Amino acid sequence: MKIGLSYDLKSEIALAQDHPDDALEEYDSLETVDGIAAALESLGHSVVKLSGGRKFLANILESDVDFVFNISEGRGNYRGREAQIPAVLEMLDIPYSGSDPQCLAIALDKPLTKKLVQSAGVHTPKWEIVSNRQEMKEVCQDSFPLPAFIKPAFEGSSKGIRIGCRVEDRDQMAMVIGTIFEQYRQPVMVEEFISGDEVTVGIVGNSPPQIVGIMRILPKKRSTNFVYSLEVKRDWQNQVDYECPAQLEAKVLKKIADFSLRAFDTLGCRDFARLDFRLDRKGMPCFLEINPLPGLNPKSSDLPIMAYKMGWNYQGLISSVLNAALNRYPGTGALMKHSKIIKVG
Ligand SMILES: Nc1ncnc2c1ncn2[C@@H]1O[C@H](COP(=O)(O)OP(=O)(O)O)[C@@H](O)[C@H]1O
Ligand SMILES: [Mg+2]
Repeated sequence: MKIGLSYDLKSEIALAQDHPDDALEEYDSLETVDGIAAALESLGHSVVKLSGGRKFLANILESDVDFVFNISEGRGNYRGREAQIPAVLEMLDIPYSGSDPQCLAIALDKPLTKKLVQSAGVHTPKWEIVSNRQEMKEVCQDSFPLPAFIKPAFEGSSKGIRIGCRVEDRDQMAMVIGTIFEQYRQPVMVEEFISGDEVTVGIVGNSPPQIVGIMRILPKKRSTNFVYSLEVKRDWQNQVDYECPAQLEAKVLKKIADFSLRAFDTLGCRDFARLDFRLDRKGMPCFLEINPLPGLNPKSSDLPIMAYKMGWNYQGLISSVLNAALNRYPGTGALMKHSKIIKVG
């Protein structure tokens, strides 16, 4: 089968002059693109690198790919940016992997996602959204519980997430909100700070989706103020241990799995996703966010790391995502004949 690969390489993104230092954080490295291409080729497919942005538009019109494996994050700081490539592929009626534009656009909007999953019974920390300086004054004067956590409303990959986002008083709160307004030019979320364990959950497949693993992220220097921040993610080898399966009580694990599958279903996610939780003092999992386009760097991304700890290899992970996607399209069965089946888990 001829598979197109859509992605946004860090090296191909034009930066604004006053960009924050993490402006490229969500974009991919060549290592990820080559890793996925090699995995797809080892399954018996030929791969066409389509790139992203305008290059993608030219390439997709020229190529006659059967299917697109999409990891493109999209361009600009629009909250719907991850939906850009899937929307074009739907317009051209080309099958592709991963969630649809609607799901991807919603999931990058953290407050909207929280509203939806909360209405489906998933527990999520109390939050307020702050869209301008007047609302900033109001939230800093009201009784929002402290410590609080301040983050951009429409980002991922820990963009804008620093240890200093945990604020203990209202002056700090105003300062961090102001900085995020200036640097990220978007609304800010003020969320209750949840001090317990950090847990991330991988899901692969459809009808029914399967939990790949539940992984606890443990800071090497134990602290109740731990934040899985940009600084930590960039230096993960020295700063954290990944424990998968997470050594948590069975009833807590059950709740995490239940919330994860419910959130996946509520947003209409497809093929794969990763969700982040923190546990509160009573051990209740608190939903932070869902990533329907989780990082797939073979060495450093959480989902591959989790998959390895659960006995999968990288090729098995990519193959599972691909097969989940192909199974959604009637007629691709014939093309799948050429795909090696990798047994995982
Ligand atoms: N309400 C919160 N309480 C405690 N820590 C939080 C909270 N929100 C975010 N964090 C910390 O910041 C990290 C990144 O936040 P997250 O919402 O997952 O954003 P991103 O999309 O950048 O991964 C989390 O993994 C967690 O460590
Ligand atoms: Mg996260």
